[in-house]
Amino acid sequence: MTEADLESHRSDVTGELREDVRAGLTAAQKWLPPKWFYDADGSELFEEITALPEYYPTRCEREVLAARAGDIAQLTGAHTLVELGSGSSEKTRLLLDALTGHGTLESFVPLDVSESALAEATEAIAADYPKLEVRGVVGDFTRHLGLLPGGRPRVVAFLGGTIGNFLPEDRTTFLRSVREVLDEGEWLLLGTDLVKDRETLERAYDDAAGVTAAFNRNVLRVINTRLGADFDLDAFEHVSHWDSENEWIEMRLRARRALTVEIPGAELQVRFAEGEHIRTEISAKFRPGGVEAELKAAGFGLERWWTDSQQRFGVSLARSVRG
Ligand code: SAH
Ligand code: AVI
Repeated sequence: MTEADLESHRSDVTGELREDVRAGLTAAQKWLPPKWFYDADGSELFEEITALPEYYPTRCEREVLAARAGDIAQLTGAHTLVELGSGSSEKTRLLLDALTGHGTLESFVPLDVSESALAEATEAIAADYPKLEVRGVVGDFTRHLGLLPGGRPRVVAFLGGTIGNFLPEDRTTFLRSVREVLDEGEWLLLGTDLVKDRETLERAYDDAAGVTAAFNRNVLRVINTRLGADFDLDAFEHVSHWDSENEWIEMRLRARRALTVEIPGAELQVRFAEGEHIRTEISAKFRPGGVEAELKAAGFGLERWWTDSQQRFGVSLARSVRG
């Protein structure tokens, strides 16, 4: 079996979780950062979500990449493809095919917090693209961008709409940090889910088979496992709510009854009133003009904007401009 190169920048994962749990679960409005969904089980549940009939973003983005990967290869002539929050890198194979076909690509650098998803993806890709240097990085894209290897020019791909999982102010910081590690003229390929009707959106995050509910509750299981907490997963109801003012989907876990949770690994006892919720994720939806403006503010010029045939999901190819 081909062994892909994997390096880790994550050392004290439990310590990081402890800090996030202390900050989030002692706040007036309880919240947890979405990166804690993704242990091995959470990554598998996410892959199941991508195949659900209600969850259109993956299919729509794949449609765009299938149609435009050749243009992306032609325009960028990339020597390195970096992928942030790469997960299974399944759609990314469309880019790898086009870029290797074009003859410029030398290395692929996927970065993800989920070591299991990354190990599986890098091994499979290294086996299927034997001439490509595959260097997986276990890391956090809000902290470890400075260490990315690879020959120029690079394309940084941030797919799936994961940019929407940042709060707006964190999104700005993130886009600027990507611009900072790029040289002038290098590229960002960004996937953004688009604003649409409430019903389509809420159903995409509350599927009939209950996979998204299991994914949402998985964050409590991660806290139980890593911090010895006693969350009763059944005591929390999964909620998908479209916030039309902020234009984001909010995933929540709502306490079905009043309860107290012990979290010894964070030296914390957390009380929940009946009906009180934890905000576990926001998934912002975008408008084309908004994406262009945010890219511009971060130091990128929009070169191409593509959507799927139903205009549900947008993909931007942007180029870093003089800072
Ligand atoms: N890009 C893939 C996966 C999207 S799911 C797709 O389009 O289908 C979001 C991915 O981002 C997961 O694999 C998760 O482990 C990863 N992730 C979430 N927060 C992260 C962070 N802070 N740093 C790095 N990876 C993160
Ligand atoms: C990874 N991210 C873009 C997904 C989303 O749609 O916001 C995570 C997800 N949450 C529930 N379903 C999928």
